[in-house]
Amino acid sequence: MLLINYCFLFYYRFKEIHKYRFVFVVMQKLIIANWKANKTLSEVAHWLNNFPSDQESRMQLASLQIVIAPPYPFLGLARQIIDERQLPLQLAVQDLSAFGSGAYTGEVAAFNVQGLGVTYAILGHSERRRLLAESDPLIADKVAEALRSGIKPVLCLDQPNFTSQANYLTSEQMQKLIIAYEPVAAIGSGQAEEPGDLLGVRQELQRTYGHTQLIYGGSVTADNIGGFLKVCDGVLVGGASLDLRDFIDMLYQANSVLAV
Ligand code: PGA
Repeated sequence: MLLINYCFLFYYRFKEIHKYRFVFVVMQKLIIANWKANKTLSEVAHWLNNFPSDQESRMQLASLQIVIAPPYPFLGLARQIIDERQLPLQLAVQDLSAFGSGAYTGEVAAFNVQGLGVTYAILGHSERRRLLAESDPLIADKVAEALRSGIKPVLCLDQPNFTSQANYLTSEQMQKLIIAYEPVAAIGSGQAEEPGDLLGVRQELQRTYGHTQLIYGGSVTADNIGGFLKVCDGVLVGGASLDLRDFIDMLYQANSVLAV
């Protein structure tokens, strides 16, 4: 009996100490702003220099893990402003070479972004599959390279064969990445998927790969973000992340939905 009492005491002490961290770990949703090939140097600086950094905004955004994916040339500037202003933002790249460092003209290797604190790599986006003919095996090599370099892959899958697009990956690799489900018709069209459809996608990914971490992308806005965050682990936002005011509105909207 005494032992049981001690166990309860320990449990409550542990709960008390870790209360706040526990809340953040369980509830934080991932919001990735994919800027694609938009913005100039001064526009990037303006966006980041005006991102709210006051204590109240931080509290309001605490349920979110916010990531920006600027074009490669602006990663250094973004890192610098994020650090100087201590912004609650992390960095992603929009692609990553399947090769290491070396004679690969035009490629950007994980090795090149070392020291910039890049946390995520968006890989296999449908725009790259369609416009640059990126194949499933090439994307699988990029995933492997990202994992080797300690960068978390955000693997984009789209309709109609979203499970077969991951066939070149091992189940061990699948466990370590985030899947961004992005139906092509929803991207940039204003025709977002129904949040309810994500439940079937998640079930299928779980059945096929035992995979669980799923985010949604395609015409996410302040009006629909709440619905998506209720059924998945985050969102990949393109157009609606470009204007800072729109983006911040969306973040506050997301936070208010999560706080309910
Ligand atoms: P969109 O883009 O939000 O502009 O539809 C999303 C994406 O392509 O990742």
